[in-house]
Amino acid sequence: ALLIPSVRPLSGRRAVVTAGPTFEAIDPVRGLTNRSSGKQGYAIAAALAEMGATVTLVSGPTGLPTPRGVDRVDVESAIQMQAATVAALPADVAVLSAAVADWRVDTVAGGKIKKGPGGPPTLALIENPDILAGIAAPGPDRPRLVIGFAAETTDLEANARAKLSRKGCDWIVGNDVSDDVFGSDGNAVILVNRAGTESWPRQSKADIARALVARIADHLAITATG
Ligand code: CTP
Ligand code: CA
Repeated sequence: ALLIPSVRPLSGRRAVVTAGPTFEAIDPVRGLTNRSSGKQGYAIAAALAEMGATVTLVSGPTGLPTPRGVDRVDVESAIQMQAATVAALPADVAVLSAAVADWRVDTVAGGKIKKGPGGPPTLALIENPDILAGIAAPGPDRPRLVIGFAAETTDLEANARAKLSRKGCDWIVGNDVSDDVFGSDGNAVILVNRAGTESWPRQSKADIARALVARIADHLAITATG
């Protein structure tokens, strides 16, 4: 049966979602990136919009179609992603699922770096800004609910809990990426917050998105200020 929700619990709420990898240029033809597909973040943006929220999706390069009803802003670098995310505030909820490159090259070469007798170039890297920590920092524009992700290959819960406190966000969705998550349609996650840890069974990224958005709606209803 086709279920048309008669109540859209996030009507009037604003959400910002980051998704996908970032791409950090090395020169005009090369860059640093990672294997994030963006699927989980896109599914969350879609579910938020289905529940009535006004959604800005700040996306790295993914090749995915824009979910229905979502306002999408395309970016490449972490610096661009941070600017677009801050520009989407104020919001009631921020879901920062992007796999932001931790480093970028200090100086992007203006022309293509050529091979030569001197051997391979040495790339000097500098750390990118932490978008999640910035959004979660106290201030007038801080969303009421700030959610981050933790992709780990070991010690999932401990690492997720450490990120919760280090970044100052409200919830962390942790997933074990030691097997078959990137580009896959399925995922198994834990939800970590100050109340404890929940383990969610392996399910589709769409179902995880719907479950997470249902929790977001509950939380915003409980803590509603207007
Ligand atoms: N994140 C971010 N900006 C960064 C790095 C990470 O906003 N520069 C966000 C991600 O979108 C994610 C969360 O922080 O929601 C955790 O990302 P992760 O890469 O797991 O954390 P890091 O602090 O970068 O730690 P690690 O050394 O494990 O990569
Ligand atoms: Ca990282």
